[in-house]
Amino acid sequence: NELYLQGLAGAVPPFTTDPGKLEDAARQVLDPKPFGYVAGGAGAGATVRANREAFDRWRIVPRMLTDATDRRLATTVLGTAMPAPLLLAPVGVQTIVHPDGELATARAAASLGVPMVLSTASSHSIEDVAAANGEGPRWFQLYWPHDPEVCASLLSRAKDAGYTVLVVTLDTWTLAWRPTDLDHAYLPFLNGEGMACALSDPVFRSRLDKAPEDDLPSAILRWLGMVNGADHGWNQLPALREHWDGPIVLKGIQHVDDARRAADAGMDGIVVSNHGGRQVDGAVGSLDVLPEIAAAVGDRLEVLFDSGVRTGADIVKALALGARAVLLGRPYVYGLAHGGEDGVRHVLRGLLADLDMTVGLSGNRAVTALHPGILRRS
Ligand code: FNR
Repeated sequence: NELYLQGLAGAVPPFTTDPGKLEDAARQVLDPKPFGYVAGGAGAGATVRANREAFDRWRIVPRMLTDATDRRLATTVLGTAMPAPLLLAPVGVQTIVHPDGELATARAAASLGVPMVLSTASSHSIEDVAAANGEGPRWFQLYWPHDPEVCASLLSRAKDAGYTVLVVTLDTWTLAWRPTDLDHAYLPFLNGEGMACALSDPVFRSRLDKAPEDDLPSAILRWLGMVNGADHGWNQLPALREHWDGPIVLKGIQHVDDARRAADAGMDGIVVSNHGGRQVDGAVGSLDVLPEIAAAVGDRLEVLFDSGVRTGADIVKALALGARAVLLGRPYVYGLAHGGEDGVRHVLRGLLADLDMTVGLSGNRAVTALHPGILRRS
């Protein structure tokens, strides 16, 4: 309504409302290197495509006269009350698309009450993002360093700064073959982007021969060496509990047996995710594995989902297939690129409105009551 009413006064939205055009709109305002870093996938892009194709295989079957005028999008995930089943996925190095980076994202998220998940590879520190996020709900995503004391320090800082849930990303213990970035010879971390959590960490700094202010390249290489190649074992998960008393979520689960192992290890949740198709080329579409995983472990831990979510209908489908909430990746980064905090808010408000209308028009009233019976596989 707001947008149509503005139209009466001759105004059109500052930025497209079409989820299919967000990527192109971002391409217009970004240099090819950062744009390629955000939009790109692993290898030949087969997993990026598979994520979308998986959504296309499911169709919503709308019901009529269900009195869906009064709808509820609100839900609770791992003790976090949320206005909608939506979180902002952890995305590192956000200053490559906008100077305000994660600070803008944190402000936009807080203004809508949507939880953000801060990446370890953030361009702003854990504490600065928390300050920008204010009273907003926030979770912290860990790239798990080899050095246990550095790890403990990051976790205690996140806890002190009000992050309530720990998300441990398992699928990026080394970076994939990403041809777009390789062709550009572009890795933002080597320019010092996405290093704020590490460089501001007292324990990490104590590991350096020289302060990062005096020798930034050595500090960067030291950090990359600490997180790259760190494929920890399942038996190391309990050690995280020593430094984190809140819920722990494993991100990057694609196999039903891994989901079971996460539950066996006492984890509180998982994110069914293939990192937006950025890690294993030719991997299964993330939505394709969601139903069996939700059926196997949905009663033992909370199942979240990401990779390929673009529309309200996508969220309805993921929830109907067993996700409790979804994480949004690239679309909000495109909003950030276009308009900083306002751009992120524009994308989120559009997606939430689209979700609200799709829930109602398909004859549903509460997102917590969606079930596979509202879909048909086509
Ligand atoms: C990511 N993602 C990611 N995940 C994570 O756990 N830590 C991180 O630092 C990053 N960084 C990152 C940067 C960029 C530019 C992108 C696009 C993605 C993955 C992210 O959390 C999420 O899993 C995917 O983005 C979801 O897929 P869609 O929504 O982008 O299709």
